[in-house]
Amino acid sequence: MSVTAVVGAQWGDEGKGKLAHILGSSHDLILRYQGGSNAGHTVIADGTTYKFKLIPSGILHEGKLNLLCDGVVVNVLTLAEEITGLRERNQFRGELLISRHAHLVLPLHCMQDVYFEEAKGKRAIGTTRRGIGPAYADKYFRVGLRAGDMLKDNFGHRVREMARRKNVLFTGYYGQAEVDPDQVWAQVEPTVEILAPLVGDSTKVVRQALADGRKILCEGAQGTLLDIDYGTYPYVTSSHPVSGGALLGTGLSWRDLDRVVGISKAYTTRVGAGPFPTEDLGEEGERMREAGAEYGTVTGRPRRCGWLDLPLLKYASQLSGFTELALTKTDVLDDLAKIKVCVAYQSNGETITWPDLDPDVLEKCTPVYENLTGWETATTAIRQEADLPSAFKDYIRFIEDYVELPVSIISVGADATATIFR
Ligand code: GDP
Ligand code: IMO
Ligand code: MG
Repeated sequence: MSVTAVVGAQWGDEGKGKLAHILGSSHDLILRYQGGSNAGHTVIADGTTYKFKLIPSGILHEGKLNLLCDGVVVNVLTLAEEITGLRERNQFRGELLISRHAHLVLPLHCMQDVYFEEAKGKRAIGTTRRGIGPAYADKYFRVGLRAGDMLKDNFGHRVREMARRKNVLFTGYYGQAEVDPDQVWAQVEPTVEILAPLVGDSTKVVRQALADGRKILCEGAQGTLLDIDYGTYPYVTSSHPVSGGALLGTGLSWRDLDRVVGISKAYTTRVGAGPFPTEDLGEEGERMREAGAEYGTVTGRPRRCGWLDLPLLKYASQLSGFTELALTKTDVLDDLAKIKVCVAYQSNGETITWPDLDPDVLEKCTPVYENLTGWETATTAIRQEADLPSAFKDYIRFIEDYVELPVSIISVGADATATIFR
């Protein structure tokens, strides 16, 4: 298998960072294909916790090349900070390539994100306020700046020009103060020295790696239900977390993709606004939040918690062509006597299994639950499938039968070693 993609099957935070770190050890190149510093990917390895925003989670393995491909939006301040942080821990060996085509997120985009959210009031999306939407909007409006522009003499001029253009919006539309273009440049300029040497032709590198028989891992960001097209629009992000997103701007084509690992929690979480049919607003949801430490990696917001939603998981599987599932955070359910799993919805008097992600429709769907028996056993120390309680195995089988996919990896704890490969 030369190309594997790790794809979030839910609303993000499924444990992609952990999985990308583990699978990264058997791959030569690890690439991020979509999203930006709205992502927060946690890796706990050798007693240290890392929270990556832009740098692929493969960076902890020596001798791998990590890439930020065309579809990623790169916050220059965040990336420069991440690199500096890793350098200080002696964990940055320069094995990072930023596609010259990757669009840049400047402080201006973050400001625009905040103004836009605040102007929306009750209809706010609850973004991470990391400038993601505005940066992708500039990309598609064809006024964005790309990593390759950092190598050009007029980069400072173009940053100031962008600040002047944003000022028209900031003052005229949002009623905010003007930014000083020189001050914006003063913030951005020091990052050029750190980032510009890492900019290159990532597509060429990927094609050459394939020709040389090297193995590539695509690390997804966000999750399928946040996809701009397939998700609960407008309560989505501005990119394509699905496996198709890994074929845009990476140099990979559909012919190259061999394995797509869908990552799902054993329950469901969501950060930000938007419909969430299986959300549990009671004690059990609160219990999941505490047991699973469900607080946003990027913003620290409490994550909304609820039960596993199999119609949505099957939807995600079909859209990305999952070849298998990795089920994470099963340990969070260790104490439960009964575990609810959504198997269908009641909608307009009908029982349906194909979800309609239009928020107005999905919000009115009532989940139909199966009550499965919990295993009521601590599982975090288990490493062999044979040692898992039988109710645990039944839970896995129930999911496999519904989604028609094998669960190939089970994550029973946050640490990289707390993993069962089947
Ligand atoms: P990502 O965005 O998909 O990489 O996921 P995040 O890192 O944002 O959120 C997942 C959280 O769950 C992190 O705090 C992980 O350390 C933690 N985690 C991952 N797998 C497991 C697991 O199997 N059990 C428990 N208890 N925590 C896990
Ligand atoms: P990872 O990669 C969870 C959510 C935000 C908000 C919506 C739009 O760590 O799984 P944005 O800032 O992208 O414009 O926000 O998307 N969101 C995430 N939720 N995990 C993420 O990334 C997310 N990235 C964005 O909370 O609801
Ligand atoms: Mg996350």
